Amino acid sequence: METIIAYNRVAKEVIHSLEKDYQVHYFENGETIDHPLFLKALTEAIGIIGLEFAGKKDVLTHAPHLKAIANVSVGYDNLDIDELTQRGIIATNTPDTLTETTADAIFGLMLATARRIPELHNYVMAGKWDNYLKHDQFGVDLHGKTIGIIGMGNIGQALAKRCALGFDMNVIYYNRSRKPKVEEKYSARFTEFDDLLKTSDFVCLTLPATPETKHIISKREFNLMKNSAIYINGSRGINNDEQALFDALNDKTILAAGIDVYQTEPINPDHPLLTLPNIVTLPHIGPATIENELKMSQRAEQNLRDSLNHKKPRDILNPEVMS
Ligand code: GLV
Repeated sequence: METIIAYNRVAKEVIHSLEKDYQVHYFENGETIDHPLFLKALTEAIGIIGLEFAGKKDVLTHAPHLKAIANVSVGYDNLDIDELTQRGIIATNTPDTLTETTADAIFGLMLATARRIPELHNYVMAGKWDNYLKHDQFGVDLHGKTIGIIGMGNIGQALAKRCALGFDMNVIYYNRSRKPKVEEKYSARFTEFDDLLKTSDFVCLTLPATPETKHIISKREFNLMKNSAIYINGSRGINNDEQALFDALNDKTILAAGIDVYQTEPINPDHPLLTLPNIVTLPHIGPATIENELKMSQRAEQNLRDSLNHKKPRDILNPEVMS
């Protein structure tokens, strides 16, 4: 049987399904080519399915038989698409499946940050709730506030829906192109980038990571935000400058931040951001729910099977390979 690598996060149902037709090697701990068994599997593999496989030149040179990489993620900044195309390797992702789940997580992070939920949970659990809550322990409202969404793709739209229809928030957004339907459905208003930063109570990134979006939020951008602003990143860590984020939180240039993603994941436990009281953080849980893991894995499985069977996969990222 031909070899498939399952990498980091693939639902067990899907691994079992693939095992009927392929020899599947599952590496679930971010193994690299320094790991002898991983390297051996890579030299044999015709397909890879999973999360955050480093599909760049230095790794691909060890994968002479590889025909397809099926990401179990919407983001594909882990892949060098040009390099894959040159090598005739099909790349796919899993859009749509995770939209609502990820918007839930981002919205949860907004709520947790604004109402200081983790901090106050710890306060109760530590047995410190011995009197009425004091003013300096209060959080801030979401309803009636303005959210500025940077990136009005599927996840941005699902977030806008929650904010506008569920929480009576005023939605403004910045995107490469205007989205008339979103403007109509959620009374959202398109603004220039700097205006969004200056006027939002919540600034929320829902962008893919591309060379153009690297550090799109940096010192200048934090300085434009209100001192009362809450900054939320549920996209990719590389989209903000972490030193500038640290400074903005530490100097109180902004009020607080809710962060699901980091430049290096898992984050180093000594990272200065983890010393701050005004950050709420999560280990990149955006799409990670029990239900959604299965949906994404099944979608990726179909993409992988189609790619290996010379059928154009639904979510192909480099269709040139097949033409
Ligand atoms: C999650 O972050 C994804 O890209 O699917």
